[in-house]
Amino acid sequence: MKRDFLTLMDFSSEELKNIISDALRLKEERKNGIFRRYIENKKVALIFEKSSTRTRVSFEVGVVEMGGYPLFLSKNDIQLGRGESVKDTARTLSRYVDMVMIRTFEHSRIEEFAKYASVPVINGLTNEFHPCQVMADIMTIYEKMGKYEKVKLAYVGDGNNMAHSLMLGCAKFGIDISIATPEQYQCLSEVVAKAKEIASETGSIVEITFDPYEAVKNADFIYTDVWASMGFEDEAEERKKVFMKYQVNSDLMAATGKKTYFMHCLPAHLGEEVTEDVFESEFSIVFDEAENRLHAQKAIMKWLFEQFDNNA
Ligand code: CP
Ligand code: NVA
Repeated sequence: MKRDFLTLMDFSSEELKNIISDALRLKEERKNGIFRRYIENKKVALIFEKSSTRTRVSFEVGVVEMGGYPLFLSKNDIQLGRGESVKDTARTLSRYVDMVMIRTFEHSRIEEFAKYASVPVINGLTNEFHPCQVMADIMTIYEKMGKYEKVKLAYVGDGNNMAHSLMLGCAKFGIDISIATPEQYQCLSEVVAKAKEIASETGSIVEITFDPYEAVKNADFIYTDVWASMGFEDEAEERKKVFMKYQVNSDLMAATGKKTYFMHCLPAHLGEEVTEDVFESEFSIVFDEAENRLHAQKAIMKWLFEQFDNNA
């Protein structure tokens, strides 16, 4: 059976930890100029229904570095953008390529794609989840701390795809997470319930609050994201008024009471969700996260192909 990479809840903690270990190893190999052809001749379609810098480039480069062939497919260039159905696109592409990554809108769209595709499907961001980003983030956390347990991350801002995937990812890895969102922009209750259930198995803590100062107490990492995600740009002005209290600035960073790293998936809006001094400070690790997208996704693709080939 093929495995898809749609959300982190579909994987065991052990599977996810193995993928991160491999990502760290791939990073080391690359540093030493070693590029092994782990996915020789595999064709990987990359469908984008939304813009991207990091996801697009890191996937393209990652596929090439492992000996595969990436096909960048923007929605404007394929019939999907003119109304061809998700299920027909999935069935057609499955006849040509060995794997598909998609960035799209509703999560149900990627679930439908995966249902009709006979090859593994990777989530490159949906409105509800961004699992590849969180794998890179957790790899970055591990590089800084050398462990997963007894580490705390605070997420401050919109209860969006990043908040959801961070919550699930932290719970799976045993990292404590505290999330502060405005009351109007909370995380989906079913995702919170799922994350709490996972955390009860791994021994981590998932906390939800409306108070950013409460959330960041004792945090090793403070994470934020844009206030108006892709597809929600028309709400930007209205959101700014509500979210200003959730800005990550030097006061909030100091409120942890300890050394704290700043994280952001990027792209960032300086002066909104984060101030420039925090973003540019020595504790900001945003470009380490961006780099780790490449290594983490190489490990994810390699792992998915290994599962598929072993069971084919
Ligand atoms: N963080 C992230 O996914 O960036 P892009 O939108 O540039 O791909
Ligand atoms: N929440 C943001 C993440 C961008 C990487 C968005 O969906 O636009």
